[in-house]
Amino acid sequence: MESALDWHQAKALLEWYVELGVTDAVAEAPINRYDLPAEAPQQLARPKQAATAPDTPQPDRPKFDWVAEARSRAAKAEGLTALAETMQAFDGAEIKKGGRNFVFADGNPQARVMVIGEGPGEEEDNAGLPFVGRAGHLLDAMFAAIDLSRTAPDAASALYITNVVPWRPPGNRQPTPEETEMFRPFLMRHIALANPDIVVPMGNAACLALLGRQGITRIRGQWSTVEDRPALPMYHPSYLLRTPAAKREAWADLLAIRSHLKDTQP
Ligand code: URA
Repeated sequence: MESALDWHQAKALLEWYVELGVTDAVAEAPINRYDLPAEAPQQLARPKQAATAPDTPQPDRPKFDWVAEARSRAAKAEGLTALAETMQAFDGAEIKKGGRNFVFADGNPQARVMVIGEGPGEEEDNAGLPFVGRAGHLLDAMFAAIDLSRTAPDAASALYITNVVPWRPPGNRQPTPEETEMFRPFLMRHIALANPDIVVPMGNAACLALLGRQGITRIRGQWSTVEDRPALPMYHPSYLLRTPAAKREAWADLLAIRSHLKDTQP
């Protein structure tokens, strides 16, 4: 059977892949898993037999505790530069292998408001900076409406931005609960070192990491506490791009932030 695609078919196929979120090649050549014998996956997944007799009991190798390691390394970071270096050197998460660039933060660390997103997407991975794609442009426009900006030099009008994970999860998926748990100590230390007056977790991934719960449509707009300071969960800008009707609630949250900043002006 003739299987070669013409140029138009190949382009349409690639566009369809991108739409499905298949944006990363993980092997040199594609594998048609429908053609593999039914037994193959189990055989591939079966652990290698030890060279010892089959009935010899094997001692359980203790699993390295990367979360405890992250906690210990995060606690030792005395400043933001040290924290960034520590995080970049941390090898606990597989997503590091797929990331092009380490994405730490952007904006002014003196800012009174610190925004926490989910993780870098493709554009952020290329740029090494958080929120530089479409969602980032909306984020900038939203905070500009209450006179806050990541480029402002003065703390009163500045914004500081980071993510739950500093490496791009493949296919722009949400960080897994394990990845979130592993990077949580770094995120908490990041907040403690930047010491903002308000934390703004945007979307479910940030709420899970910072508040231990999800359900952004219920918890957005409700003040909470993170690292001994007020936190106001908001919709993620990517959600707002898909659901423009929710911008009304996002505007209400921005006004709540503005009024809190005014009431607590140093
Ligand atoms: N979405 C996020 O949560 N973070 C980014 O940096 C970009 C998109």
